[in-house]
Amino acid sequence: MFNFTATPPLSLYIHIPWCVSKCPYCDFNSHEVRKDIPEERYIEALIADLEQDLPAVWGRTVESLFIGGGTPSLFSARGIARLLSEVRARIPLKPGAEITLEANPGTVDQTHFSGFREAGINRLSMGVQSFQDGLLAAIGRIHGGSEARIAVESARRAGFENINLDLMFGLPAQTTAQALLDLHTAVDLQPAHISFYELTIEPNTRFFRHPPRRPDDDILWEMQTAGRSLLNAAGYQRYEVSAYAQPGRQCRHNLNYWQFGDYLGIGAGAHAKISNAATQTITRTSKVKHPRAYLDATGSDARIGSHNELSVDDVILEFAMNSLRLDSGFTRSSFTAATSLPYAVIETRVHTAIEHQLMTDDNNIIKVTEKGQRYLNELLQHWMPELPQHAETR
Ligand SMILES: C[S@@+](CC[C@H](N)C(=O)[O-])C[C@H]1O[C@@H](n2cnc3c(N)ncnc32)[C@H](O)[C@@H]1O
Ligand code: SF4
Repeated sequence: MFNFTATPPLSLYIHIPWCVSKCPYCDFNSHEVRKDIPEERYIEALIADLEQDLPAVWGRTVESLFIGGGTPSLFSARGIARLLSEVRARIPLKPGAEITLEANPGTVDQTHFSGFREAGINRLSMGVQSFQDGLLAAIGRIHGGSEARIAVESARRAGFENINLDLMFGLPAQTTAQALLDLHTAVDLQPAHISFYELTIEPNTRFFRHPPRRPDDDILWEMQTAGRSLLNAAGYQRYEVSAYAQPGRQCRHNLNYWQFGDYLGIGAGAHAKISNAATQTITRTSKVKHPRAYLDATGSDARIGSHNELSVDDVILEFAMNSLRLDSGFTRSSFTAATSLPYAVIETRVHTAIEHQLMTDDNNIIKVTEKGQRYLNELLQHWMPELPQHAETR
C-alpha cells in the first residue's frame, strides 16, 4: 500500500471560530459573537488540543502556521502572542516560517496590527471582498471600502510587508467593470498577494435560502479572464485557480495543502491530514465543530469529530483535487514524494485526461489545460475510481 520513507512537509492550522456577524454567503465554521469571546479559555483548549496531537508528529518541524477563521483578528494581540509562544514551546517552527493571521478590516486598528506583528505574525490575510460600499452592503459586510484601504495602510505602518487581500467576484448584480475596478484598487495598494474568488452559493447560508441575482456564467468567465490579464499586467502571477502573487510571494501554507503536504489542525472544526511512516498510513482527522462542544472537550478525546484512514483511491482523488488547482501542476517524483505511491498508479488516468485535452504532460510537468480549468469537475471525474468513464474500468 503506502511506502513512506520520508513524510511530506508539515504545516499547522489554528481555527478561531468567531465573527462580529455572519456574512450571508459564508459556510465557514464561524459563529456570531453573542457576548464576549472566551479568549483565554479557548487558547487553553487549543494548547491542550495541540499537546494531544503531538504524538502523531514527533520529531517533525512545522514549516508554516496559519491562524484562520472566523475572524482571528478579534483576538487580542496579547492572546495571539501567548498562543504562538505556547505553540513554539511544544513543536519546533522552522526558522523564518510563514505565520499568517486572517483579519477582517472592520475589526483592526494600528495598535492591534503592531501587537500582532510583535507577537510574531509575519503575514496578514485581509478579507476585503470589494472596495465598493454598495457591493459590500449587498454581501452583508461590516466594513466599507475606505476602511479596507485604511486597514492595509495601517498594517504596512505596523511593519507588515507580506499582505494578502481576499477579493470576491460574481457579487449580486456586479458588472465586469466593477470587478475590474476592485482589482485596480487592490493593485494600487501593492499587496504581495491577491486572492480573487468567485462567490459560490453554499448550502446552509442565507444566500442559499434567498439567492441573490448573480452575473451569468459568461460574465463570470469574462470577470475571471479579464481579471487574470489585469493582474498579470500588474505583476501578479496566478499560481492556483484563485491565487495571484508577486514573484516569490505565493502563500507557502496554502501551497502545502495544494501539494498534498501534511498539516495538523487545532481548534473547533479544524482538519488535519497526517502521513505516518511508522504505520504506513495517511489519516484525516477533524475536531468537533461547535465552539461550545470544543471547549467542553478540552483535553479529552471528545474533541475529535471524525477520524479516518485514507485508501489508495482516496489519496489519488484527493491528490488530484489539490494539485490540479496549481498552475505549476506536478511531476512524477512530486506525486511519489507526496503520496509514497508509484506514478504507475495514476498513469492511465493522466493519459485519459490528456486524450480529452483536459491535461498536458510536457517534459514531466503534468498540469491542467485551460479547458481542464474551466471544466475542473469533469476532469476530476476521470480520477474517480468507481465511475464507468474511468479509463481503468473500460
Ligand atoms: C475565513 S474568510 C477571511 C477572513 C475574515 N473572516 C473575513 O471574511 O474578513 C476567508 C475568505 O473566503 C472567502 N469566501 C468565504 N465564503 C465564500 C464564498 N461563499 N464564495 C467565495 N469566497 C468565499 C472570502 O473572500 C473570505 O475572505
Ligand atoms: S466571511 Fe469571514 S467575516 Fe464573514 S462570516 Fe465568514 S469567516 Fe466571518
